[in-house]
Order: sequence, then structure tokens, then C-alpha cells
Amino acid sequence: MSTFIRGGTVVTAEQSVRADVYCADGVIKAIGLDLDVPAGAEIIDASGQYVMPGGIDPHTHMQLPFMGTVASEDFYSGTAAGLAGGTTMIIDFVIPDPEQPLMEAYQTWRGWAEKACADYSFHVAVTWWDDSVHADMGKLVREEGINSFKHFMAYKGAIMCDDEVLYNSFTRALELGAMPTVHAENGELVFQLQQKLLAMGMTGPEAHPLSRPPAAEGEAANRAIRLAEVIGCPLYLVHVSTSDALNEITRARNSGQRVYGEALAGHLLLDESVYQNPDFEAAAAHVMSPPFRSKSHQDALWKGLQSGNLQTTATDHCCFCADQKAAGKDDFTLIPNGTAGIEDRMAVLWTHGVGTGRLTPQEFVAGTSTNTAKIFNIHPRKGSIQVGADADIVVWDPEGTRTISKTTHHQKIDFNIFEGMEVKGIPSHTLSAGKVVYAKGELKVERGAGQYVKRPAYAPAFHALEKIADANQPVPVKRN
Ligand code: URP
Ligand code: ZN
Ligand code: ZN
Repeated sequence: MSTFIRGGTVVTAEQSVRADVYCADGVIKAIGLDLDVPAGAEIIDASGQYVMPGGIDPHTHMQLPFMGTVASEDFYSGTAAGLAGGTTMIIDFVIPDPEQPLMEAYQTWRGWAEKACADYSFHVAVTWWDDSVHADMGKLVREEGINSFKHFMAYKGAIMCDDEVLYNSFTRALELGAMPTVHAENGELVFQLQQKLLAMGMTGPEAHPLSRPPAAEGEAANRAIRLAEVIGCPLYLVHVSTSDALNEITRARNSGQRVYGEALAGHLLLDESVYQNPDFEAAAAHVMSPPFRSKSHQDALWKGLQSGNLQTTATDHCCFCADQKAAGKDDFTLIPNGTAGIEDRMAVLWTHGVGTGRLTPQEFVAGTSTNTAKIFNIHPRKGSIQVGADADIVVWDPEGTRTISKTTHHQKIDFNIFEGMEVKGIPSHTLSAGKVVYAKGELKVERGAGQYVKRPAYAPAFHALEKIADANQPVPVKRN
């Protein structure tokens, strides 16, 4: 099975160049001008189109058990929706319950993900601490290809980490050459504000953003970054939604810390007015954490992407339908947190990024694919168009248009936060491991065709950090 993409412009994070691309055996075999078409190859006419690395969404939650229910999108339907939108790989999250062995949770998620039709990998959350967690982190890195560990600084009474867990886990991650990541919100402050708002009779979704003010994110971002500074490890902040958190990231980066930030398509495009909708279903459908913010934060996030202080984009795809959101009809704190977007991220970011001049096509590729592959150590296998790389490719029609709607999307959710948005710039074809899995509106996916992608630990960067740590070792004062 081989595929020949003819006459397009190959866009990578580094360059744009006219070239044909030949894919066989799951990888890119040849790139060049006017290549001969090998016998039997399926030909895609890419004239007038861009040929780019498939999107990588580093933040999804397929079939996540959360807040008393289970996310409606599973690994099959979710990866299929991603492929329809040009996303060819996800990094999902294994989230053990407190006291649950990490390895046990990891095996459960591996089982669930076997039905995926696009490649996938996992961050593993550290939700508690003891010697077995220390040992399992080692096994996950050395035997299972996990190189990132997630920490929720919010969700008190459920999966929230205190500073002791953060300290232990960041220290262990450094030792293993793995990346700690954080959901940065001060969970105690959020909890106290939730109780206060409920006591005031504020029970509807409009209270959700009030319970999670920007300062709660800024404080947690600063705390995590400062812990990472002292421990000497890098840090990745997921779903950065405020200028408060972005300012902490920027400050740390300017002082030489390896700190990375992710922006969600939703946070870039929607604002907090969605919570004022008098229709409970519509307002509750937007309840996610951190919440949508004011326009000034959106502007800051775009500038963060433009300046490179935010490197990646994601969706935090976590679907709950109206009947699930109804659990919080009388108490906003019981509305399952999460919104969808895996199918729309690429088109929305192209339209509002490249289409407005905020991003160049190369910056778009960097922000939707290459930077994620680099930060999570799977580049150039993923996130690049080069000979030998996985043939995960999107053929992008910059003139193609679509109106986003829950009535036409492939996502398994009865709401779309981008409903009615006209996008210009859409995939015409998506290739996964060299196979055409989406062509002009038609999905041709195969259940279980997606492969688990192992991500090795980051030896070189960490050796550099160890050298710095060695040079800064304290020396006892010699006394008589
Ligand atoms: O609201 C969200 N984001 N739900 C999924 C869990 C998380 O915090 O990422
Ligand atoms: Zn989160
Ligand atoms: Zn999430």
C-alpha cells in the first residue's frame, strides 16, 4: 500500500517548498520535485494545497471517568474525529485514582486505547505518593515509553496534588529524564470560592468562572514554576488560559528556565460571556477548567503563541453531553468539567491564526504539531515531513470552507463550542501511517489501526541540567 501526494507545497516548521511526497510501509520514502510515480501508488492531487505534518493534540481525555460520569467520546470515535480534522496523533492522560497503582491504571488505559484509529501516547498523572509510585514512575519511563507525568493542582478531594506530592514527583521525574506537567489552578482557593458562591445562592454555571479567577491560575503557575526552578527540572503547563500564568512562564523563560506552555483552541477563541447564557444547557456545555476568560486574556494567549512563550496548542478534548452536564442543574460544582474540539482545532487555528496574519503557515505547523513532537521527544518521527518519518500527513486546502456544527461533526457530543463558526482552510485528505483515512469529507478509518507510540526519556537535556545541579552543589564549611 503506497500513496503519492503530487504537486503540493510541503510546509514544515522550517520551510515551505514545492515537492511531491511518496509514502509506503507507513513512512515517508521520498520527497522531491516531479518524482516518478511508483507503480500501484494511490495518487492524491495536492496542487494548490499544503502538505503538512498531521496535527498532534497533546491534551485529550477519551472515555475519561470523571466527576461521577464517563466522557462520551471513546478512543475510536475521538481519534476518528481527529483524523477528520487533520489531527493524526493524540497524547491522552492516564489518571489513577488516589491510592491506585500507576501501573494498574496505565494498563487499563492501554486496553481502552486499543480501538484507536490514529496513533496515541499517554501522560501519566501522579495523584498521590508513596514508594510504589516512585517505583512505577521508573517502570513507566524505562519499560513503557512514558516521558511525562501530569499533576493536577486543582480538583480538591479528588485528584489534586499538594506541594509534597509535587516536590516528590518533580524530583523523581528529573532523575528519570521525564517532563513534569501541571494543571495550574489553586485547588484550595477554588474550593473555598465554590462554597462561598453556593452559600450566596450562586448555583448556576455563571458562578463557575467566579470560582476560578485568573489569580488562582497565576498563583499555581508561579508555585509550580518556582518548585521546578529549585528542583532544577523542566516544566510544561497545560491549558494556559490567563495572562497571569503566561507572565509567570515568560518571566521564567527569560531567566533561563526550561518552561513550556500550551494554549487551547477554545481559550483562544471563546470568552467568559458564554456562562451568562440563560439556557442552562448552553452555559453548562461550556463548563471546563480553567474557564473561558475575558478577551484581554485571549489577546495575551495569541501574543504568547506569536512570541514563542507558548509553544503548543491542544484541545483538552473531554466530552460530556447535556444529560451528563445536567448533574449540576442545581449546583454548578457538580457539572462535569470538559469541552470538545479535537476535530476543529486545526481549522480554527488556521482561520484565526494564519487567516488573520497572526501566524505564518510554518508557525502554524510548529504550534499544532512540531513543537509538541519536540517537547515530548518524538521528533522527527512525528511532527515533520522528512524521509523516514511516519507518514502522518494532512493535505490542507487553504481555500476550502466549512461551517462548524454539532449536526455535521464526527465528535460524539451533542454540542459544539464553535457552533456556526465559518472556517477557511480545512483538510482535504488525512494520511495515517501512509494510508488515506480521510478524503474530501469521507472517513475511511479502521478500528484499532492506531499504534501506541513510546516516547523515550530526554537524556541530553537532562544531562545539561545535571551539570548545572552539580556545579551548584552546596559545600559544607570546614570548621576546626
Ligand atoms: O475541564 C476540563 N479541563 N476537564 C478535563 C480535566 C482537566 O482539567 O484537564
Ligand atoms: Zn486540566
Ligand atoms: Zn485536561
